Amino acid sequence: MLKSQSLDVEQVRKDFPILKRKIHGKRLVYLDNAATTQKPRSVIRSMVDFYSKHNANPHRGVHQLSIESTEAFDAGRKKVVSFINASAFEEIVYTRGATESLNLVRYAWGSRHIKKGDLIVLTIMEHHSNIVPWQLLAREVGARIEYVGVTPDGSLRFEELEALMGQSPALVAFTQSSNVLGTINDAQKICSMGRRAGATTVVDAAQSVPHMQVDVQKIGCDFLAFSGHKMLGPTGIGVLYGRKEILAEMEPFLSGGDMIKEVHISGARWNDLPYKFEAGTQNVEGAVGLGAAIDYLNSLGMDKVRSHEEQLAAYALEQMGSVPGITVYGPKDVSLRGGVVSFNLGDIHPHDLASILDEEGVAIRSGMHCAQPLLESMGLSATSRASFYVYNSYDDVDALMGALSKARRIFCL
Ligand SMILES: Cc1ncc(COP(=O)(O)O)c(C=O)c1O
Repeated sequence: MLKSQSLDVEQVRKDFPILKRKIHGKRLVYLDNAATTQKPRSVIRSMVDFYSKHNANPHRGVHQLSIESTEAFDAGRKKVVSFINASAFEEIVYTRGATESLNLVRYAWGSRHIKKGDLIVLTIMEHHSNIVPWQLLAREVGARIEYVGVTPDGSLRFEELEALMGQSPALVAFTQSSNVLGTINDAQKICSMGRRAGATTVVDAAQSVPHMQVDVQKIGCDFLAFSGHKMLGPTGIGVLYGRKEILAEMEPFLSGGDMIKEVHISGARWNDLPYKFEAGTQNVEGAVGLGAAIDYLNSLGMDKVRSHEEQLAAYALEQMGSVPGITVYGPKDVSLRGGVVSFNLGDIHPHDLASILDEEGVAIRSGMHCAQPLLESMGLSATSRASFYVYNSYDDVDALMGALSKARRIFCL
């Protein structure tokens, strides 16, 4: 039996209570990690512990519980600071997730800085969360958007990016890792090209921060967004990293309690960073859970997480290579891709395929994956997608392959 060279998957699996579940009487094979990940006991326990022992509104009271809640909230933030190597506590803003982080940039930065006629550069492989906010902004101010295309093997067309950089874009927003193709983009290179062209850079790291070591200082981006739930943490908590100088000169996003220093009849003064962007009572248990998820990932080691996923992706690509009628999308070279494998099997509709796999206990995603422009550019309306994480094993890939064989039999392929 093949075993991961990087992680003790059997041991890891014991930390995830949900993996004991049976689905239609079969072992759960959870391969929908690009959508959301399962939670280890330590994350679940950290939130139960917070509510059992420390719950209060942070930043508001001087009583002991409020102090403990504030400490728990900011302890989670300190973990995020070192996890992505931000240079300061002030650079980490809590949001509800990557989508809200990108919208924060669109409203609080974009509305003031993007002007009529400005160029916004996106890539065709973006998730809708990194397209629609910019489309709305462009419509509001009269800016224009250009999309960098992808090659047939799913890599960005750098010559197109280069050409667009020559037109002095005001904003370059791109994903570090595609949730459909698995492609890992060279964020450092793109940000350096953007900087030289005078653009502000936004990195959608929803599919990278959970799966590889991400260093915002090395990347040199202005903003970077990700979600807790895709990295073993709870839903409803995410992060916007912003360079301190940029965040400092921005106006608030949402307004109300907590994001102010003073409010008078005549007006208000904003709170210090990062609280200026955190209006209202915050998701403290989310921050606690995200902190516990970071501890868990650190205990595995992000280099090992990455190499484990590379091994599973390589094995899946190799196995799929011998399935008649299958089309697999994205780069063939696993060093250029994450653990996301999208494919189509003959003319079986991905939703039908996902239903057949579900009967076998195998959970995959089917559809457009919130990336309709990419799929349209590939002449597709949907794909099936298997995506791996730390608790997936070679056995899981074998279970996927077995379920695909069953689907081929049912559809007489
Ligand atoms: C690349 C990418 N960006 C952004 C998002 C949005 O994340 P969320 O729904 O957690 O805000 C996703 C979610 O699938 C994603 O895959």
